[in-house]
Amino acid sequence: MGLVATITSGLRTRLIARAGGIDLTRLDKVPDHLAWPLQRAGVDPVPRLGEMRDRDPVTKLTSFLGLDVWLVTGDAEAREVLSDRTSYSTDIRPYMGRSGSATEGDIGGLGFTDPPEHSRLRKLLTPEFTMRRLARLQPAIEDVVERQLDELAAALEVDGSVDLAQAFAFPVPFLVICELLGLPDDRREHFRTLASARFDVSEGGMGAVGAISGSREFLLAEATRQRHDPGPGLIGQIIRDHGDEINDFDLGGLADGVFTGGLETSASMLALGSALLLQDRDHWKRVATEPESVPAVVEELLRYLSVVQVAFPRFVKTDVIVAGRPIRKGAVVLVSIPAANRDPRAYAGDVLDPARATGSHLAFGHGMHRCVGAELARMELRTAFPALARRFPDMQLAVPMEELSFHGMSIVYGVESVPVTLR
Ligand code: HEM
Repeated sequence: MGLVATITSGLRTRLIARAGGIDLTRLDKVPDHLAWPLQRAGVDPVPRLGEMRDRDPVTKLTSFLGLDVWLVTGDAEAREVLSDRTSYSTDIRPYMGRSGSATEGDIGGLGFTDPPEHSRLRKLLTPEFTMRRLARLQPAIEDVVERQLDELAAALEVDGSVDLAQAFAFPVPFLVICELLGLPDDRREHFRTLASARFDVSEGGMGAVGAISGSREFLLAEATRQRHDPGPGLIGQIIRDHGDEINDFDLGGLADGVFTGGLETSASMLALGSALLLQDRDHWKRVATEPESVPAVVEELLRYLSVVQVAFPRFVKTDVIVAGRPIRKGAVVLVSIPAANRDPRAYAGDVLDPARATGSHLAFGHGMHRCVGAELARMELRTAFPALARRFPDMQLAVPMEELSFHGMSIVYGVESVPVTLR
C-alpha cells in the first residue's frame, strides 16, 4: 500500500471510529423504517407524515446501527433545528467509510461541510448569487426557455404527445447552470450525458449524497482548465477574484455542489409544477395572462411541492432540547420539508392556494445552509411557467395526474416523464 493510501485508510478508520463505527456506505438499501419519509402519495406527503406532525412534531423515528434517528415534521420545530448553528454538524464524512479522504471522491459541497470551512467556502460563492450578478443571467434564461419551447414543439411524437420533463423541465435548468458556471458551448453536450446519468432515477435518485461521478470529475477538470483560461461564469469569476484562496479541488467541489443542488431540484419543480398547473385551467390561464400573479404562484408551488424531501441530516454534537424534547449527542435529526411546509399552523396546509402564498416557506431550507441558489431558482421558475403557458395555452396532460411515473423514493422528489399534448 502506498503512502497516500496508508494515510487515507488511517484517516478513514479514525473518522469512522469517531462516528461510533458507523459506515453508511456499507448499506446497499435504505431500510424501510427509515425510507418512508422519502416517499410520497402522488405530489402529497405520505399521510403518516401529517399524522405525526399533528400528534408529535419532534418524534424519535427509530434506532439504526446504534444511531438514534429523530424526525421533525412541524414548521416552528424545523426552524428551531435549522437555525441552531452550534448543536449540529452536517459533516457526513465520518459516516461514509469509502469517501472519508480528501483525495478520492470526497463528499464535498457546502451542505456537508461545517464552519469554519463552510463559512469560508460559502463566502466565495455568495457574491455570484447577488441580485445584481444574477440579473445578468435573466436574458440568458429567457433565451434558453424560448429555445426549449421550440424544441418541445419539434419533439412531438406521432401520437401527438411530447414529454415535458425531457424536452423542457430538465434542459432548461441544465443550460442555465452551464451559463452560470461558464462552461464552453463545445463541452456542454458531453457534460449533459454525464449529468443525465447522474440523475438517472434507476440509480435510486441518490445522486445528492455525492459519490464520485463523471460529472464531478468533469467539473474538477474544468476548474483546472479554467485556472489557465478563466471563463465568463462563476468558475472563472472565483478564479479572478480569489485565485490563491481556493485550490482546484475545492473549486471543482463547489461547482459540483452548485450543479447537484441546482439541477434536479429546479427540473422537478418545472415538471411537477407544470403538471399541477395543468390540472386547473384557471391557474394555467392566470400564469399566461396575469404576470403580476406569477411570483405568488411560484412561491405556493415551491411550498406545496417541497421537492427536497429532507434537509441535510443534522448530527447532534451536544445534548440538545428541541421543542421540549431532549435529544442526545450522537443522534441524527432529519427535518421533513414537505411535512413542515404543509403545517396548517403556518400555511394553507394541504391546499394549493396562491392567495395565501408566502415567500418564507421552508422549500429552500433555513439557517446557515439555506439554499444559495434560491433567487436563481425563482428567476427560472418565474420565467419558465408563464412562457410555457403563453406559448401553449391549450396544453393538457396526456395521462391522468395519478398515472405519472413519480419517483418511488428519493431525496429530491420528481417524476420521470410528463406526457402532454400541445393543443
Ligand atoms: C427549486 C429549486 C431548488 C430547491 C427547492 C432547493 C432547495 C434547497 C434546500 C432545501 C437546501 C438545503 C437546506 C438545508 O439543509 O438547510 C439547499 C441547499 C443548497 N442549494 Fe438549493 N434548491 C434549489 C435550487 C438551487 C440552485 C438553482 C442552486 C445553484 C445554482 C442551488 C444550490 C444549493 C447549494 C450550493 C446548497 C448548499 C448550501 C449550504 O449548505 O450552505 N440550489 N437547496
